[in-house]
Amino acid sequence: MSDVESIVKEALEQFSRAGAPAELEQVKARFLGRSGALTEALKGLSRLGTGERRAAGALLNAAKERIESALEARRRALAESATEARLREEALDVTLPGRGRGRGGIHPISRTWERIEEIFASVGFDIADGPEIETDWYNFTALNQPENHPARSMHDTFYIEGMHALGADGRSEPLLLRTHTSPMQVRYARMHEAPIRVIAPGRTYRVDSDATHSPMFHQVEGLWIDEDISFADLKGAYTDFLRRFFETDALQVRFRPSFFPFTEPSAEIDMMFASGPKRGQWLEISGAGQVHPDVVRNFGLDPERSMGFAFGTGLERLAMLRYGITDLRLFFDGDLRFLSQFD
Ligand code: PHE
Repeated sequence: MSDVESIVKEALEQFSRAGAPAELEQVKARFLGRSGALTEALKGLSRLGTGERRAAGALLNAAKERIESALEARRRALAESATEARLREEALDVTLPGRGRGRGGIHPISRTWERIEEIFASVGFDIADGPEIETDWYNFTALNQPENHPARSMHDTFYIEGMHALGADGRSEPLLLRTHTSPMQVRYARMHEAPIRVIAPGRTYRVDSDATHSPMFHQVEGLWIDEDISFADLKGAYTDFLRRFFETDALQVRFRPSFFPFTEPSAEIDMMFASGPKRGQWLEISGAGQVHPDVVRNFGLDPERSMGFAFGTGLERLAMLRYGITDLRLFFDGDLRFLSQFD
């Protein structure tokens, strides 16, 4: 009988030492399994006489019950501590300060766009916005860009396949992604009376892609039309703009003769910093010119009475010079390591 007692004692002890459910089930087999200690003892009953068998049987059954209930208790205890451990691991301390959301920033191109608008608005320019899908007429024809001009080729321009618009003259004309902001000169001028003072910033598209060209880029168009607006006004207005944009009065500007079908005469505007990494170098910054009389006529104005200038400047170019960026594609890669530097 002391045998039975020691089996129970041993079982209880081993149960409490089992640290994990799987281990506990193994220990259980040692006592209650087919060849477990208690099972063996029960098998031994058959060798006893009737009276003894009854007493011993009752004792063994009581022992079995104690072992089973100890096993059950240990099972519950292990399950509970597993749950507790998981809860502890997944605990959420609601009193901790929040991690916060990453703060967004304004894209360097948007920032440049805003600065340009601010500067020109402060000297009385209106700001206009227009369609990025343009008709052939506004993008080319109205701007004196002849049928055989290379810019009109498929190599340079994104045409919208299978889509045409009905032109003013009733003819169907191709639609394309505007290759410059200059069509906005025509659209705006046809909707407003002279004098006209406007800038039109926006997205433009050309079949072009390398470190300094992207198929989508931004320009800002400027147009000032009155009775006697000349190159001198252009030089004054544009130089003021650049000095304010780059925040330095020491910046110089020069005009270099050039050609655009929609201006006559035409010029490239170059600028030069007096200090900084690019000091002393002439940097091309804009196309410009006196608006061609034919284009003024397409504005719906009389070229004998209205004249003025236009310019078209790349926003990326301005942003690259201002921030010292050498690869234009960085603007559009969406890489936060680059973009977050402009916050
Ligand atoms: N539209 C021209 C270009 O994209 C730039 C320009 C605008 C030149 C206005 C002269 C006048 O290259």
